[in-house]
Amino acid sequence: MKTTKVSFQINNENVTLEVRPYETLLETLRERLVLTGAKEACGMGACGACTVIVNGIPLRSCLVLTPEVEGADITTIEGLRQNGNLHPLQEAFMEKGAVQCGFCTSGMIMTAKALLDRNKKPTKKEIVRTISSNICRCTGYKKIVEAVEEAARKTR
Ligand code: FES
Ligand code: FES
Repeated sequence: MKTTKVSFQINNENVTLEVRPYETLLETLRERLVLTGAKEACGMGACGACTVIVNGIPLRSCLVLTPEVEGADITTIEGLRQNGNLHPLQEAFMEKGAVQCGFCTSGMIMTAKALLDRNKKPTKKEIVRTISSNICRCTGYKKIVEAVEEAARKTR
């Protein structure tokens, strides 16, 4: 089968891979790099469970073809830990009870991280609007919003 070479940075490490031309970034992350934090739920861009940050922008990795990320800087949920410590968003999600089954959680956190990276003091309305692109079937969203507010307070 024809493959194509692609190089990018992931969680501060350089990688070069031979991938199928139509391989999605989600497949590459989960199956080749064993970064299984990004989840496949809908597989068609609707739920956000597969969200990762590419060049500062939260993208649905099920909709991105891996050859398209040549030269990109990618962060996944696995890259948020610093010196063995969880990211404030990860801590706040646990403290506020914003995780139930956890299937949406890494996508939610990556979407929220991209928001906090560009706006350290988001309003509640901005948080609600931002995470509304991600589907959670368990929590009712209230605790997720509280967790993002809490993390924003801690990271200011
Ligand atoms: S699995 Fe990618 S958006 Fe749902
Ligand atoms: S915690 Fe279960 S889908 Fe969000």
